[in-house]
Amino acid sequence: MPQFTKGVVGRWDTPFGFPTLKHSLGCGLRGRPSPRDPHPKNFGKVYFVEPAYLFQSTLAPNDLQRLFREVRTTSERLAEPLSDADATVQSMQDASPSKWHLAHTTWFFEAMVLKPHLPDYSDFDDGFSFLFNSYYETLGARQPRPRRGMITRPSLNEIFAYRTYVDAAIDTLLSSQPPRDVTELVELGCHHEQQHQELLLTDILHLFAQNPLHPGYRDPALVAVETEPAPPLSFSAFAGGIYEVGHGGPGFAFDSEGPRHRALVEPFRLADRLVTNAEWIAFIEDGGYRNSLLWLSEGWAKTLADGWTQPLYWERRDGEYWTMTLRGSQPLDPTAPVCHVSFFEADAFATWAGARLPTEAEWEIASDGLSLDGNLLDTDRLRPKPAAARANGLQQMFGDVWEWTRSPFTPYPRFRAVEGAVGEYNGKFMSGQFVLRGGSCVTPPGHIRASYRNFFPAHTRWQFSGLRLAQDA
Ligand SMILES: [Fe+2]
Repeated sequence: MPQFTKGVVGRWDTPFGFPTLKHSLGCGLRGRPSPRDPHPKNFGKVYFVEPAYLFQSTLAPNDLQRLFREVRTTSERLAEPLSDADATVQSMQDASPSKWHLAHTTWFFEAMVLKPHLPDYSDFDDGFSFLFNSYYETLGARQPRPRRGMITRPSLNEIFAYRTYVDAAIDTLLSSQPPRDVTELVELGCHHEQQHQELLLTDILHLFAQNPLHPGYRDPALVAVETEPAPPLSFSAFAGGIYEVGHGGPGFAFDSEGPRHRALVEPFRLADRLVTNAEWIAFIEDGGYRNSLLWLSEGWAKTLADGWTQPLYWERRDGEYWTMTLRGSQPLDPTAPVCHVSFFEADAFATWAGARLPTEAEWEIASDGLSLDGNLLDTDRLRPKPAAARANGLQQMFGDVWEWTRSPFTPYPRFRAVEGAVGEYNGKFMSGQFVLRGGSCVTPPGHIRASYRNFFPAHTRWQFSGLRLAQDA
């Protein structure tokens, strides 16, 4: 039985601001008076709400079908340059083979949508749940993560057949006008797959970087570096006060982006652009990686243990810096945003620069009203782009590189994970990780929002992660 929260209409100590979607594996919506906008006749009435919401969809049935097909096609297009061998090898424990990403996103639709909601659906292969379940304890045993690269069979072609089988079943389901709790699961599956599209590219970059020939995932010809210098670093000022942050709907968001809530923020300044490679070289040349006073203790231990002297993928050739990219090894562009640095490195750089990392609330407040346009996956650049030389106000807030914040990934006030398997999506990872904001050059368009909270452990460097400086005002 789900746990329901008891409350009284008209009080503000209610957990949720809008109708909640009780998740799939069991229950539907329950009628009740709305606690946030109560009708006077309901004042004082006792109500019960489900333990959490997923989101409040705004997609029409045709739009959902279009989104599903577009997302599924995009994943297969991203896999086109890969051989079966490219798609099978696992370069490290944190990364997954492309073949696994393609199959796991398909398993998600099968396990979360088709098996519980499409009558008479039968698994494509009974063994695939063990192979392609990621971390859902409630959905059974699974292949250990560090051993995903051992799955040489099924072949890549068999995974494509699996995808076709599941796509047809989802089409059948969507054509039957399923209830809203089912269509919202399909929509969640699309956003889940978009997350894995970015991971597929970050993991392929890490894999190809291990190859001494540094092959390009796509179009490996040398790319000219930008000739225009980066604009001087400037800061925008923001007033202190009580702000509302977090997703408040309608529209898709992951559960960890809400509930919307109040945050007290002191006056602050936020840099108008991202930190550049040239600025990172100045940090290196000033002994940044050798000065323990700049580093958090855990980060300093990590630099010593792993021998960090520069961002991941950088190398020196004849006195010049080069970096591995999805277009192969390329000369480092000094004006482009620095990329592939850990939280520990970003924090040390900010200390060296007389600044700090922003909090996630500060970042979200600053992004209010800004366009979500940026250097995302659809530009096909596949690497961060320098800031415009002349611009007013904040640049590069969306796209280019995920921006480390100093905020730990913890639940927002009144957050509760939903019942069932989907409740394992985010909530159980709310310890020991830091929040990154804004998306990257390999984030699919339509997947990023001002409230989006990405999260990774502080030492990780293989994501497209960089930083923007902040200061107290
Ligand atoms: Fe996943």
